[in-house]
Amino acid sequence: MAFDIDMIKKTYANYKQRVDKAREVVGKPLTHSEKILYAHLWDGEATQAYERGKSYVDFAPDRIALQDATAQMALLQFMQAGKAKVAVPTTTHCDHLIQAKSGAETDLASALDQSSEVFKFLESVSNKYGLGFWKPGAGIIHQVVLENYAFPGGMMIGTDSHTVNAGGLGMVAIGVGGADAVDVMAGMAWELKFPKLIGVKLTGKLSGWSAPKDVILKVADILTVKGGTGAIVEYFGEGAKSISCTGKGTICNMGAEIGATTSTFGYDESMERYLRATDRNEVADAANELKDYLTADPEVYANPEKYFDQLIEINLDELKPQLNGPFTPDLGTPVGEIHDKAVENGWPLDVEWGLIGSCTNSSYEDLTRAASVAKQAVDKKIKAKSEFGINPGSEQIRFTAERDGILKIFEDLDATIFTNACGPCIGQWARYNGPEQPKNTIIHSFNRNFSKRADGNPNTHAFVASPEIVAAIAISGRLDFDPTKDYLINEDGEKVMLDEPKGMELPEKGFAVEDAGYQAPEEDGSKVEIIVDPNSDRLQLLTPFEPIGDKIDNAKLLIKAFGKCTTDHISMAGPWLRFRGHLDNISNNMLIGAVNAYNQKTNFVKNQLTGEYGPVPDTARDYKAKGIPSVVVGDHNYGEGSSREHAAMEPRHLGVVAVIVKSFARIHETNLKKQGMLGLTFANEADYDLIQEDDTFNFVDLNEFAPEKQLTLVVTHKDGSQDTIMLNHTYNQSQIDWYKEGSALNLIKKENAN
Ligand code: F3S
Repeated sequence: MAFDIDMIKKTYANYKQRVDKAREVVGKPLTHSEKILYAHLWDGEATQAYERGKSYVDFAPDRIALQDATAQMALLQFMQAGKAKVAVPTTTHCDHLIQAKSGAETDLASALDQSSEVFKFLESVSNKYGLGFWKPGAGIIHQVVLENYAFPGGMMIGTDSHTVNAGGLGMVAIGVGGADAVDVMAGMAWELKFPKLIGVKLTGKLSGWSAPKDVILKVADILTVKGGTGAIVEYFGEGAKSISCTGKGTICNMGAEIGATTSTFGYDESMERYLRATDRNEVADAANELKDYLTADPEVYANPEKYFDQLIEINLDELKPQLNGPFTPDLGTPVGEIHDKAVENGWPLDVEWGLIGSCTNSSYEDLTRAASVAKQAVDKKIKAKSEFGINPGSEQIRFTAERDGILKIFEDLDATIFTNACGPCIGQWARYNGPEQPKNTIIHSFNRNFSKRADGNPNTHAFVASPEIVAAIAISGRLDFDPTKDYLINEDGEKVMLDEPKGMELPEKGFAVEDAGYQAPEEDGSKVEIIVDPNSDRLQLLTPFEPIGDKIDNAKLLIKAFGKCTTDHISMAGPWLRFRGHLDNISNNMLIGAVNAYNQKTNFVKNQLTGEYGPVPDTARDYKAKGIPSVVVGDHNYGEGSSREHAAMEPRHLGVVAVIVKSFARIHETNLKKQGMLGLTFANEADYDLIQEDDTFNFVDLNEFAPEKQLTLVVTHKDGSQDTIMLNHTYNQSQIDWYKEGSALNLIKKENAN
């Protein structure tokens, strides 16, 4: 059995008492999110009310999930903490390092061949330190977590932004950097700024072509990629109850695309049904005993405007299917209304691929609804115009879908069934044989559609939609196809329309699987040996970072990034994923996707020492070799996207001492702090414009680094003139201690030793 009922019962044993105490301390009814947060305080029962968006609070998460790409660095770090076992139930999932090319069988075999060193490392570390291990092919982390580990009212962290998916089972589940996971694995508290709360009231009921995906695509359109920053989004209302548990998972999953800390739903019957269907009667029974505590107090949902910082209302009766994209998940257009917009913007209307699945949308309900559309192509003699690719979320889903003939429907359309893994969702799609980068359009049911995300081609215009809309549009081959109004011409020359999709929330015959792909750790792991070849180009044992110190003089500008700079731009995925466990090698991708504000080019910056232009990593290495610190300057929401701490470790490794931006994405800001470097924001945003290409920086009052106190930066320009710029920061005292020790891990080690 994979899930840990004892841990869940332990959490529930204190739940009522802790929530009642919190209600008393806060002095008002509590939302579902607040109940989970207050029930997981590191210090036990609440003694004070925390200020949303302001107070830093120590939490005790119930569990941790790691995926293979981020687990490598997290576990390399954990190995340095000197512990015998992880302090909290933890699992490792092998899903990101598997390419999508020819289909599951050959792709999985070649991943096992190419990444065997990494998989063996993860397996042996998991075995030694007490982590559950999900083998390559077992499934995508968030689907496996939802099927096995998520539980109502629980708190989880995971080293992947879409950890938030578990909100579909009523958790507060948050994506963190590997360094945060290491803290908790090492038995320390996990610190988070107490989030603000956004309420989303869902009225009405989804019908016809509208799906849970459309709820979050609509919310993304309303809130934009920054709108959820620092907040938990809590969904409620009659509409929420009418959505399946896995549909709720989809909605929570894409909360990452609005920058939300996480999203969640209160416990309801859909969750109970899902728990029972996934063989967790004990969890459902335990949750039922605590029902009223696993959702908000009734007064909150009756008068939500009094209890949430922001409130959005969506009427599901009126919600139309959405198409979001290209290049950003918050650019929404109702299906059928995209023609003129696409023509104006030069987005190709012909759709080459339709991709269904990923951690976002590969539930039984998703696959059956999409299959009900796909089947019509065969039944009505319509030749699908686009190619189909399917990524089942887990072996359990794949096995069940195969048993029930669902995969066969897609295969009849010549679909490629990829491995139960991330594949095309993380740039692991070997779509082209050569260097060609044709302009084209694809549609998928994944969550992210940044440039190059799926296939590495910057000219691929990726649109996000529900699985059933992906199926319909892929069959038609046209981005502007509206299945509610438009007809298609079949092989007999007849006009035919697609009927509304029909799906099943859960399999009638129950889920089934032969080998789910789980491996429990050794009881006593002390004898397990972990081998890292010193000549490996994939794995490298870490050496601790030296503290930067309380004086930074004559630092050089490395790059002033223009516009969007996500963690994909800072530490690209795709082919670089293979170096996730080797800090020096992966640092060769540092900021190569960021646009240089002075020439609008990527990976082409001025080396102030030579006057020549070259790649960002080479320039940084040159400064570092000469003992000169460097600084990165950025725009708004810098570091949005994923939780990968490589985006912080690489600059740290290559001698960057500070990242100064207009605003940060939360996880990335914390990651910079963890690595013992400076993550700062312009007190006056317009000062971004003062930074020039040949600037030198002096931090003049770093010796007085303290919470809530601005830092002063003197910028010297090429002509000798100077500007003094005030910088804000969000470091509290313990984060300042990380900076002083060189990294959070250095501090853990020091405390362990004492
Ligand atoms: Fe994997 Fe894409 Fe989800 S990379 S974890 S399928 S967001």
